Formats: sequence, C-alpha cells, structure tokens
Amino acid sequence: MHFPFCVHLCNYCDFYKHKLEGSEQIQGFQQLLVDSWEKHQQLFDEHNAELVALESLYIGGGTPSLWSVAGANFFKDMVLRNWFQLTPECEFTFEVDPDTWTPAAIEAWEQAGVNRFSLGLQAFDNEVLKKLDRKHNVESVVETLDFFNKRNANFSLDFLIGVPVENRNVLEEIKRALDFNPAHFSIYILQARKNYPHYDELPEDDKIRDEYLAVVEFLAGNGYHQYEVSNFALEGRESVHNKKYWSYASVAALGPNATGLLVKSDVEALRYQWKSMSAGYQLEPLSGDSLRIEKAYLALRNQMGLSMDFFSNEELVLLLQLMGEWNEAGYLRLENPDKITLSPQGYLMLDSVIDDLFKEKVL
Ligand SMILES: C[S@@+](CC[C@H](N)C(=O)[O-])C[C@H]1O[C@@H](n2cnc3c(N)ncnc32)[C@H](O)[C@@H]1O
Ligand code: SF4
Repeated sequence: MHFPFCVHLCNYCDFYKHKLEGSEQIQGFQQLLVDSWEKHQQLFDEHNAELVALESLYIGGGTPSLWSVAGANFFKDMVLRNWFQLTPECEFTFEVDPDTWTPAAIEAWEQAGVNRFSLGLQAFDNEVLKKLDRKHNVESVVETLDFFNKRNANFSLDFLIGVPVENRNVLEEIKRALDFNPAHFSIYILQARKNYPHYDELPEDDKIRDEYLAVVEFLAGNGYHQYEVSNFALEGRESVHNKKYWSYASVAALGPNATGLLVKSDVEALRYQWKSMSAGYQLEPLSGDSLRIEKAYLALRNQMGLSMDFFSNEELVLLLQLMGEWNEAGYLRLENPDKITLSPQGYLMLDSVIDDLFKEKVL
C-alpha cells in the first residue's frame, strides 16, 4: 500500500510522491483508496481471484509515518473492517522517517496491527545526510532509534551507500546503528537518473563495489546474513513480504502508482499498476518469454536462487559453460548444486549475468 506524501522531496528520489501541504490532501488520498478498492474488487472478480487474509502487508511511501493517528483510525475502521483481513501472524510493516512520527501515531498503528517498522535513516552522519538533501539530522536519527529500541520494536534500517561524499566511513555509521539492535538492514546503492543532481558526481564503479563489499562483510561479521542484493537480516528475521515478492507470489496493491501481481498459473500472470491521480490501473499480461525472464531475474536477486529445473536439457548444456565463466569471475556461491545463487560480487554484476543468459540463448 503506497502512501504518496512527504514533508520534503529529497533531490535523489524518483518514487511517486507529493509535498504534503495540508490535511485535505490526505482526505483526497483516502477517498482515492476507497474508489480504488471498488475497482480492485471488480478486477479480482473478472479474473476469478479471491483476496484471502494477508500473510504480509507493507505500507510504504512516500512517508507513511505522516499518515498519523487519523491514518491508523482510517485503516482500522475502513480497511480492516470492510476490505480485507490479516492472518494472526501477518507481518505488517510500516515505513517511518525521522522527524515525521509521534509516539501517539506509532502506538495507534501498532494497535492497528503493525508489528514491524522500516526506518529511513539513510546515513548516520550529518555531512552525508546533507549531501542527500535529507531533512533530518543525526540527532533525530538517534531519537528515532532510541524510541524504537526502548519499545522493543521489530525494525529494519534503510541506508544509502555510493553517496558522493569523500572519505565517508559507512562502517562506523552502521556500527553506531548496531547499538540499537535492528533486526534487519536494507542497504541501497544510490541511483541517480540523468538530470538529477548527483548524476555527474556519483563515485567510480570500483569505489562503489569496494564500499558495498565492505558493508556485506561487516554485516555478516555482526550476524546479519545477506538474503538479497540489498537486504540483510539476523537469523530468522528476514522480511516475509520481501520473500513473497521475490518468489513471484501474487501480491495485491493499492495506492497511487502501486503495482500488484496476480499469478494465474506457472505460465500466466497479470500485473496491474495504479494510476497516480485516479482510481484506474494499467494492465500488463505476462506470459511466455517475458514471464520467464522476470522470474529468472527475481530468483537471481535473492538467496532462494534460480533452480536448475527452470532450464531444458539443451539450455543446461549452454548454462554449464556460462557457470564455469561466472565461477572463475567469483560471481557464484556454490553451496547448492541444484540452483544458481549469486555471491555479493555476482549481485553487483546481475545485469551482465542476465545479458550472458540472453546472448547464449539460455533465456
Ligand atoms: C522511497 S523510500 C521511502 C521511505 C522513506 N520515505 C525514506 O525516504 O526513507 C524507500 C527507500 O528507497 C531508497 N531510495 C530512494 N531513492 C533512491 C535512489 N535514488 N537510489 C537508491 N535508493 C533509493 C531509500 O533508501 C529509501 O529508504
Ligand atoms: S522522504 Fe523518502 S520518499 Fe520522500 S522524497 Fe525523500 S526519499 Fe523520497
């Protein structure tokens, strides 16, 4: 579920969002959800699909923590009462940014069922936060971590690396965050599109690689294993929601620009993406090669890996040769011979791994 408002629009971000100027925007958003929900039901009816109780729910943004007590009430009174239910063990994640939450709002969302928080820190250093055009500073990072730690909450931290700041000591920043016992980290490499401010000043590829690999190693040394390109968790604390996404399971979606996937069979799926300003969506049927490529891409992004059963016997012959080359380059983990799983170096080369599969006509 996508909540599309922020107090400030960070200069590197190309997610769909608006600057929040007044509560009437939130009223409009809630009305949009109501109208969209009707369309969602029609969509599911047309495709004989049924929305069962959710095993995971993720409210992301934008800045959902701005959808404060009133948002939690809307969620309880409208969404949970009339639209869908959550299983008793549902993993319900809510994104929070420093400086945008109140204890009352967090409590209200917990009462609505939230049991996991994703905190958008991005950095633990004022110079880096400033470079990233974030509104918050280290003081509010500490205040946020302190609050969630003292509450014994289950939380994940988002960090950005590959930021154009000379001599950044990202390991020291992560070390400071470790004092607050996060269960999970999402570490993203900063992407800057053309015409975005950091486009011309991003660090060289080898600098980014070194930083990424150092972070992976540091987190592993502190008990956080990598289970996807950007995600790290303590044992048993991986995100249920993430894992569903990456295993190509059906995921329902609601909110401006949110994207859902309805899996009909092994060879047929339907993607729907909500429009930004109206309760309509665009449909993209997936089958044949496009479905196969998407599945392969998702499988290679995470430690569940791509099963050898995915390939025909002829493809396997070509694949084994490619795997020899990847192995020499250090792109593979070789723990399980029944599937391809990439190493951290392999993750960094994911696009070229996929290119190889195309070039050799394995995909
Ligand atoms: C869209 S944000 C929403 C969460 C929250 N508003 C925040 O900013 O932390 C989700 C995550 O995407 C990542 N992100 C946003 N823009 C990015 C970019 N240009 N490159 C890489 N990661 C990005 C950030 O780490 C962020 O925590
Ligand atoms: S707060 Fe998050 S979603 Fe909002 S503009 Fe900044 S990075 Fe994007």
